[in-house]
Amino acid sequence: MTDEAANVFADPTAYADEPRLHAAMAHLRAHNPVAYVDKAPYRPFYAITRHADIMDIERDNNLWLSEPRPVLVTAVADDFAKSQLESGAGLRTLIHMDDPHHKKVRAIGQDWFRPKALRELQVQVDALAKRYVDKMAEIGPECDFVEDIAIHFPLYVILSLLGLPEEDFPRMHQLTQEMFGADDEEYQRGTTLEERMATLLDFFDYFSKLTASRRANPTGDLASAIANGRIDGEPLSDVDTASYYVIVASAGHDTTKDAISGGLRALIENPHELDRLRHDPELIDTAVEEMIRWTTPVKEFMRTAAADTSVRGVPIAKGESVYLAYTSGNRDEEIFDDPFTFDVGRFPNKHLAFGYGVHFCLGAALARMEMRSLFSALIPRLDSIELAGEPELAATVFVGGLKHLPIRYSIR
Ligand code: HEM
Repeated sequence: MTDEAANVFADPTAYADEPRLHAAMAHLRAHNPVAYVDKAPYRPFYAITRHADIMDIERDNNLWLSEPRPVLVTAVADDFAKSQLESGAGLRTLIHMDDPHHKKVRAIGQDWFRPKALRELQVQVDALAKRYVDKMAEIGPECDFVEDIAIHFPLYVILSLLGLPEEDFPRMHQLTQEMFGADDEEYQRGTTLEERMATLLDFFDYFSKLTASRRANPTGDLASAIANGRIDGEPLSDVDTASYYVIVASAGHDTTKDAISGGLRALIENPHELDRLRHDPELIDTAVEEMIRWTTPVKEFMRTAAADTSVRGVPIAKGESVYLAYTSGNRDEEIFDDPFTFDVGRFPNKHLAFGYGVHFCLGAALARMEMRSLFSALIPRLDSIELAGEPELAATVFVGGLKHLPIRYSIR
C-alpha cells in the first residue's frame, strides 16, 4: 500500500482523481511521511507529506536548494533543461535560483506586488471583476465557468500589469497552458521533448522582442522595470530577463484561475458555506484563503540537499531531491481541524498553497485581491447556482485544477 500510495506523485492522472489522491496522501502522512518514490520516467525522490516537514525544509534554504531541480520533471527533460541552460538557452526563473542571486533578482519586481502598489490597482481590478460578472449575466443561464470566466480574468490582470497589448493575451494564454498543462492531452502541444521545448522558445522569442522594445522606450510598466533591472550595477542577463517575464506571465494566471474555479465549485458543493458568505460578506478574506487551501493549485515544488542530512530520521544524501506535497500539507490533520471540511470562516488557516520562506509566492497579495474582487462582485448578484455537468480536473504533476466547470445559474 505504501509503495502504491507514494506512486501517486509520479502519476499525472492522480491529480485528476481527488478521492484516490487524498486517500494515498492520508496514508502516507500516517505511515510513511518521507516516502521514497522510484518510478519512471522520473528520477527517484522523497515525497514529503507532512505540513511541519515541508515548512522546515523551505525555511532552511541554505541546506535545501532550488537548483538544479525546482519542480518534478522527467529524467530526460531534467537532462535536457540542464544542457539548454549550460548552452545559455534555458529557462532560469526565480523558482530555479538560490540566494544570493535569487534575492537580488526577486527585488527587481518585488515593489510591484506590495500592498501599496496593489491598492492603486484595486479600482481597475474591481471594474474588471464587474465586467466578468456582467458577462456571466449576459451568457447565462449556463456556462463553462473555467473557459468563459476564470481563465480570462486573472490573465487580463497580470498581462495588463506587465503592460502587454490586449491582442497578445490569447497567445500568452495558449503558451501558459502548454507549459503548465504539458501532462494533459487537452493542453499539450505534443508529447516529444522538442515540442515541449518549442513552447519555451516561443515564450523566449516573444519576450526578447519585448525586452528590446522596453529598453529602447521604457513605458513605466512592470515589463519596463524588468527589462531595465540591474544587479550590482549590471543589466539583468538576457536569460534572467526573459525568464522573469515567463514566470510572471505564467505563474500569475493559471494558478489564480484554478483557485477561482475550484473555489466556486466548493461553494456550489457546500451550499451552507455559500449562504454563510452571502449573509456575512465580511467573511470574504477567510473564504478566499480557504478556497486557496482547498484547491492548492500548485501541487509541488522540489528542493535538493546541499549536504547529507535527514528528515524525520530518514537519511537523505547530498544531491538527492525532496518533493514538497503542498496538497497533502494542506490537509494535514495535525495542523487543520477537520481538514476535509470546507469552512469559509476557517481561522487561523496556515496553508502552504503559496509556499513558505524566501520563495514565498511573489503574487500572493495580487491573487488574494483578484479573488476577493471577483467573489465580492458575484455573490450578492447570485440568486441561484448549481452544477450543470461533471467538473473535470486536469492531469498534472505541477500546476492544475479544473479544466471545465459547467454551471447553471440565475444572476441579477
Ligand atoms: C511562487 C503559488 C499566484 C507569481 C509561488 C510558489 C507557490 C505559488 C507555491 C512557490 C513558493 C515556494 O517555493 O515556497 C501560487 C498560487 C497562486 C499564485 C496558489 C494563486 C492562487 C501568483 C500570482 C503571481 C505569482 C498572481 C503574479 C505574478 C509568483 C512568482 C513566484 C511564485 C514570481 C516565484 C517566487 C520566488 O521564487 O521567489 N507561487 N501563486 N503567483 N509565484 Fe505564485
